[in-house]
Amino acid sequence: MRLKDKKAIVTGAASGIGEATAKLFAEEGAQVLAVDRPESAILEVHKGVASIVPMAQDITEDGAPERIISEAKARLGGVDVLMNNAGVSGRTFVEEIPLEEWDRIFNVNVRAQFLLCKLALPVMKDSGWGRIINVASVMAERTDYGLAPYCASKAGVAGLTRTIALEYGKFGITANYILPGPIYTGMTQQNFDQEYIRTVWEKKTAVRRLGQPIDIARGALFLASDESEYVTGIGLTIDGGLTLRT
Ligand SMILES: NC(=O)c1ccc[n+]([C@@H]2O[C@H](COP(=O)([O-])OP(=O)(O)OC[C@H]3O[C@@H](n4cnc5c(N)ncnc54)[C@H](O)[C@@H]3O)[C@@H](O)[C@H]2O)c1
Repeated sequence: MRLKDKKAIVTGAASGIGEATAKLFAEEGAQVLAVDRPESAILEVHKGVASIVPMAQDITEDGAPERIISEAKARLGGVDVLMNNAGVSGRTFVEEIPLEEWDRIFNVNVRAQFLLCKLALPVMKDSGWGRIINVASVMAERTDYGLAPYCASKAGVAGLTRTIALEYGKFGITANYILPGPIYTGMTQQNFDQEYIRTVWEKKTAVRRLGQPIDIARGALFLASDESEYVTGIGLTIDGGLTLRT
């Protein structure tokens, strides 16, 4: 019960890392507002778990951050933990990237994260305790072909989070970001279901396997708990040793 009576928002909670994190937070005693797009399975995946309140909401819509924070206040009674996990990727070479594609990725990965942080911070300040956990990627510090907007957006997440950590530490609020490596989720399933791609990525890691959503959820649990009180502004790499070598 490491999150007993904590009120947590998890975005992108219908699939992969967000789904696993919402479940783990609930198992550890938190009340969770689980947010995902209306087209996702958000209204089904957490059925039967009383401490998870699902919310079908695209986080990039006008007014969405306001609606999410109000829902957390109304249904949970506040916001102690904000796990900004929803994210999207794309794969296009720089010359071919339409501006709409750049904006689509930044709107989810950075803009919506920023707005949710902005609105959650005053609520956390009032209670004198808060945990912001933003999901970046190992691609915040590295790159791969076709990932310019994704890498740039995840580097943006890191910069945003470090600055929040600096500005809000004095209010009992910590802000950290997670850099997941190759995790088997809705985002990566299509690639990793191809045997040769899966084998290459398994071999790239030191522990010789792909990550599972729970591997990231456990890191998020630490960052959400009282135990991480003196940890702020860091990027927690959870990648099975993927990035050890050059
Ligand atoms: N899977 C990996 O290998 C990996 C590696 C590094 C970082 N990440 C990051 O982890 C996070 C979670 O991704 P995942 O791998 O679990 O993928 P996923 O596709 O399984 O889950 C992402 C969820 O975010 C939701 N989402 C997307 N846009 C949204 C929007 N506008 N409003 C509300 N919800 C929205 C999707 O519907 C989906 O349910 C992302 O930020 C991703 O960039 C994943």
